[in-house]
Amino acid sequence: MESCDSGKFHPTLPLDAKYYQQCYQTFSRFMEFDMPYTYETWYRQVLGAAIRDKLRGRGTEHRLTGQDDTKRSAEDGLLRHMGVGSGSGELEIQILQALLEKFKFVYNRVIEPSAHQINLYERLVRGDNALSAAVRFDWQQQTLEAHLAHSDRRDKFDVVTSVHSIYYGGRMEEKVPVLYDLLTEDGFLVIVLLSDTDSLSQIQSEFLSPDIAGYRYYTKQTLQSFLIANNIQHDTLDIPRFAIDITTCFDDSSEEGAQLLDFLSHMKHFRTAVHSKQREKFMRLLRQNAHTIGNKVLLTHDTSVVLIQRTDKNFTKRDSP
Ligand SMILES: C[S@@+](CC[C@H](N)C(=O)[O-])C[C@H]1O[C@@H](n2cnc3c(N)ncnc32)[C@H](O)[C@@H]1O
Repeated sequence: MESCDSGKFHPTLPLDAKYYQQCYQTFSRFMEFDMPYTYETWYRQVLGAAIRDKLRGRGTEHRLTGQDDTKRSAEDGLLRHMGVGSGSGELEIQILQALLEKFKFVYNRVIEPSAHQINLYERLVRGDNALSAAVRFDWQQQTLEAHLAHSDRRDKFDVVTSVHSIYYGGRMEEKVPVLYDLLTEDGFLVIVLLSDTDSLSQIQSEFLSPDIAGYRYYTKQTLQSFLIANNIQHDTLDIPRFAIDITTCFDDSSEEGAQLLDFLSHMKHFRTAVHSKQREKFMRLLRQNAHTIGNKVLLTHDTSVVLIQRTDKNFTKRDSP
């Protein structure tokens, strides 16, 4: 039984990378959209397009030549992108596709600790000849922290994206300034994360904490406070609200419900491993923050993008007020 002295969880789900991915896929299957885009097309047609249009036009003729592409700058017509926690790539390639509408070639460094996710991403790329011809993928199977400890910090990137990965590993206050410093002049750091208007966030804020590793509870508002305290200009873009169907969470015999609960709480085997008092409180809050449509119990899900453009100003780090 997991004990939680402070009332907070010590998230165990990310310790089992394979099972974590299974739960993330289950979570993704229960997302429901009511908008002109699917989740994936939003990443291409809205987010990818916004980054593409904000980047200075630098796409001149350039051929990918192999190793020394890592040293070339976008001035040569090669756009350099780094994905942090890229997962299986479905969302990241949407952003890349939008960038390829302006830049002919992309060097993409993929920082992803899960071998399984990298295999899925490689399979996705193999199935798309146009993408494999235009993008050189540099697969780095490691955490961001391990990568930063060993990589050459002089390697710069025009775009760095972190899609729902800022919660994992080290503190955001340490990572964001380092990622900012990896940008070329005018380059973009793009961070997608929960908003605290999200109904899941109302529950997670009770059980998860920015101070406990495994899953650090950060929202758009936490990140914005940190950027404001450090005088770092940024824009935000809210992803249209969608819903998560959590009906199966209330069916104790449902295996999918168990995986969904594990992902929502970030506790592996939530139903059996979490202390009954904590579990009951979590389930009560889940019910209170959800709404019902017909037979379905739904949570509203608000996620946002924080876009930070590199200026000639350095990131002098101060904590949030
Ligand atoms: C919620 S998933 C998001 C995956 C993908 N970006 C997407 O949106 O579909 C979080 C990803 O972060 C990766 N991850 C976990 N810890 C990490 C770390 N310390 N550094 C980089 N990535 C990490 C996980 O393996 C996982 O693929």
